[in-house]
Amino acid sequence: MSKTKTDMILEQKVNALLAKMTLEEKIGQMTQVRHFEITKEEVSSKFLGSIIHTEGPTPGETATDWQLKFIELQKQALSTRLAIPLLFGVDAVHGQNTFNGATIFPHNIGLGATKNPELVEKIASITALESQATGFNWVFSPCVAIPFNEKWGRVYEAFSESTELTTALTKASVKGHQGVLSDPHTVMATAKHFIGDGATDNGTEGGHTTLSAEDVSKYLLPPYQAAVDLGVGAVMASFNTLDGISMHAHKALITDTLKISMGFDGIVVSDWKGYSRFGETDIINAGIDMVMAVDGDLDTYQKGLKEAVGNGIVDQQRIDDATKRILRQKFRLGLFDNPFPDSALIEKIGCADHRNMARQAVRESLVLLKNKDNLLPLKKDSKIVVVGEFAENTGLQSGGWTVHWQGMTEDYRGAISILNGIQQLATNEILYDIDGTKNYDADVAIVVVGETPYAEFFGDIGGEINAYQLTLRQEHQNYINKYAEKGIPTVTILISGRPMVTTTQIEQSDAFVAAWLPGSEGDGIAQVLFGDYDFKGRLPHSWPKSVQDYQGKYGPNLWDNSLEPLFPFGYGLSY
Ligand code: GLC
Repeated sequence: MSKTKTDMILEQKVNALLAKMTLEEKIGQMTQVRHFEITKEEVSSKFLGSIIHTEGPTPGETATDWQLKFIELQKQALSTRLAIPLLFGVDAVHGQNTFNGATIFPHNIGLGATKNPELVEKIASITALESQATGFNWVFSPCVAIPFNEKWGRVYEAFSESTELTTALTKASVKGHQGVLSDPHTVMATAKHFIGDGATDNGTEGGHTTLSAEDVSKYLLPPYQAAVDLGVGAVMASFNTLDGISMHAHKALITDTLKISMGFDGIVVSDWKGYSRFGETDIINAGIDMVMAVDGDLDTYQKGLKEAVGNGIVDQQRIDDATKRILRQKFRLGLFDNPFPDSALIEKIGCADHRNMARQAVRESLVLLKNKDNLLPLKKDSKIVVVGEFAENTGLQSGGWTVHWQGMTEDYRGAISILNGIQQLATNEILYDIDGTKNYDADVAIVVVGETPYAEFFGDIGGEINAYQLTLRQEHQNYINKYAEKGIPTVTILISGRPMVTTTQIEQSDAFVAAWLPGSEGDGIAQVLFGDYDFKGRLPHSWPKSVQDYQGKYGPNLWDNSLEPLFPFGYGLSY
C-alpha cells in the first residue's frame, strides 16, 4: 500500500514516541482491564493502555457520571511520564447497549434482514455517538461472523449466512462507526471474531472449526478484507480453534494472513482472558497486540510477558510492533490532542431522531413468511387479542447484550413494547392474554413468542448449558394452538436470535412474521402490521424445515444445498 505524506508523518510520531518508551511502558500499552478491577493509581503505575466496561459495576448512574469516571482515569494516564492516553472500549453491539437509556437497535441479524447498507451506516454512526456520550472511544463491533449453524448461541450478533451480504454491511458498519476517526463523535471499530467463530463443528461457541484454507478464504475472509481496506482500527481474535490451533495463537492467520497479506495495520486484541486461556506468550508471538487481561490475569500477564522478553521467548521487535499499532490508533483517534469525551453529546442519548432511526430499522427488519388470505395488514378498528409475555416486556424483545451481558427479562429505560405499539395505533379494544389462559374472543389474535435473551455459549443449543432448543417452548406452542383452534385468525410474531424450526406453527398461523430481536422501539412492529409501512425484510438466513436438518456439522445454508430449507435465503413477502 503506498504511503501518503500523512502516513509518513504519523509513522514518524509513532516511532519517536516508541523510542522513548521503556519495556514496562510498552507492555502497559498492551494491557486492557475493566474499570473496576484497578485503582486509579494502577492506571499510571502499570502504564495501562486501555480500560473497558462489560458486565459488573457500572461507571456510575448517569452518562455524566460515566464520562467523569473515565475522565478521572484518563487524567491519571496523562499524568505519566509520556502521557499516553487511554482507549476506552465497550461491547456496543446494537447501540450503546451497556447504558440503560441508550437507543437499542435491532441486533445484526435483523439488520441483515434489512439488506440496507445506508441504514446500517447511520445506525453505526448513532451507536458511535452514544458510545462517545458515555465516555467510550472504542467499540467491539461489528461481529462479522458467517454463522453456519443455528445451534450457535451468537447467530444474532452476525448479519447473515451470506458472505456477500455480510461484506456489504460490514463496510457500512465500519464506515458508520469510524467516520473520520479523529472526529470526537466517532469511535474505533472492531471486526470480530477472527476467524471461524460462526463455523465451528455443530455451532459450539469456542469449539473447533473444521474448514479448509480455501473455504476460510472464500466464506470467512472477505468481510475482514473489506474492513481492513476501510481502515478498521481493531480486530478481535476468536475463541475457536482452527487447524487444531487456538485462533489466539494462530500465527499463520493472524500475522501472515491478516497483518502481512491483507495489510492490517491496526490492533489485534485478544478476547476475554485470552492470555491465560490460549497459551500465554504464544498468543503474543502469534500476533496479538493487546490483551484483555481481565478477571485476575493482569499481574500474571504483565510479569509473564516481561520475563518472556528478558529470556528471549518473545522478541523485542514483537513488543515494538504491538506497541506501534496501539500508538498508531491512538494518534489516528486524535487522543493525544483531544483525550476527553464531549459532554455536549450526553443530551443526544436516546433522543427522538435516534429512536426514529431504530424504529425504521425494526420495520425494515421484519420478514413476512406467511399471509394467508391477506390477513395482514390489519384494520385499525379490529378487535384484537394480544397473547404472550413477550408482547409487554422490552427486555424480552431485545435479546442478549441489553443493559446486561445476558440481556434482561424486564423493561428497561426508554424502550417501547410491542403491545404498546399496537395500543397506540389501534382504534378498537385491545385485549391482553399474557399467558394464554384467558378465553377471549376477537377478530384477530396477535401471538408473540420466542427466545428469552442469551449471549455467547449460554445460547448454544446442545452445548454445556443447553437451555435452548430449535423449536418453540411448549407453552408458546400452546398459545398458538389455543387461538388457532378457536378459529380466530392468528398472526404469530417470532422474537428470536436465529431462524427456528416452526414448520407446524407456520401451518397453524394465518400470518407469520420473523421479527428477530427488535430492541427498544418495539412499536415499529405495529406500524407494519397495520399497514402504515410495508414489509421490506428478506431472510438473511435459510429457514430450516426440521430439527433433523441439524444432525451434521451445519444446518441448511447457502453452501450446502443437500438440505432443503423451508424458506431460502432472501425469502420474504410484501403487501
Ligand atoms: C466476550 C466476547 C466478545 C466481547 C468480549 C468483551 O467474551 O466473546 O465478543 O467483545 O468478551 O466483553
